[in-house]
Amino acid sequence: MRRIDAIEFKDGRLRLIDQRKLPQEYTIFECSTYLECEFAIRDMVVRGAPAIGAAAAYGVVLAAAQFKDEPTEQFQSSMESALELLNSARPTAVNLMWAIKRMRGVLQEKAGVSTEAMYRALKDAADTILREDIQKSEAISAHGNQLVPHGAVILTHCNTGSLAVPGPGTALGVVRAAQQAGKDIFVYADETRPRLQGARLTAWELLEEGIPSKLIADSVAATLMRDGKVDLIVVGADRIAANGDAANKIGTFMLSVVAQRYQVPFYVAAPVSTIDFECPSGREIQIEERSSREVTHIEGVQVAPDNVEVYNPAFDVTPAENITAIVIEQGVLYPPYTEAIDGLKR
Ligand code: MRU
Repeated sequence: MRRIDAIEFKDGRLRLIDQRKLPQEYTIFECSTYLECEFAIRDMVVRGAPAIGAAAAYGVVLAAAQFKDEPTEQFQSSMESALELLNSARPTAVNLMWAIKRMRGVLQEKAGVSTEAMYRALKDAADTILREDIQKSEAISAHGNQLVPHGAVILTHCNTGSLAVPGPGTALGVVRAAQQAGKDIFVYADETRPRLQGARLTAWELLEEGIPSKLIADSVAATLMRDGKVDLIVVGADRIAANGDAANKIGTFMLSVVAQRYQVPFYVAAPVSTIDFECPSGREIQIEERSSREVTHIEGVQVAPDNVEVYNPAFDVTPAENITAIVIEQGVLYPPYTEAIDGLKR
């Protein structure tokens, strides 16, 4: 089974599969500056919580290369501005802030070494983040597979595979692991309006991997659940609060409500780096609002009247009470999540 490498650092450049253009075009977006990396995250060339974090870590490496001829004090302050900019490229996925914090730790720990040595230390740290992300998503996939019965029909939302996560993925990683285990699964993929990550990316990944599936409009999910045609739902997350509330792509909350109504197990799969231990509940999670054009236009074609007002939150929060279990790299967390998440700190 072919695995897609959405992020690669080669010859001093960050190479990203341009996810804005899939599936029509498979092109590589090259970043040779941290500003290009920040643009790539903000404009969703690269997207998905863990992928954003890993890309930002390499953005810090690019900044170090750009500023390496500056005197040490100037270098530190230029790096701090670059870190701040990268950190604010998108507000909801906490993996971004997590990765920047890790990179800032290296800058602080190595303060005083030559800028050349600093570059090498930062590059090592970014490589480690990427390598560990792959291991984590492999572990999440394996743990999640334990929750999938033979012959299960699985519904998923947004895109959580190798494009969104270094490695096999989170929710889609679970799907892949079940398929590899020969469980004869079937997947319904929500199209995921307005950016169509399900239609453009998940449907593409499922086809590439030969996993039997059907693409559905988001509004079909409730009917499938009412008719008993979905055995479980598995989704990813962009930020999980300390009480288990989970922010994920807009539409996830609605799925969880219907799932509860029809007793369909609802699983969230995410690495521990997606847990924001400082965030008490979903109420405190900042939800990104994106451009109205994402709703008024589809693939460049206007589908709404000129000057219409639009509300376009990119994420919503699924309350912990609607989540059957959270799959992380260490295993499976069950309610009460406050205790389970707190236990991860020890
Ligand atoms: O806006 P996006 O495409 O970055 O949103 C992605 C999602 O919501 C994913 O479900 C989430 O990041 C989990 S990916 C492992």
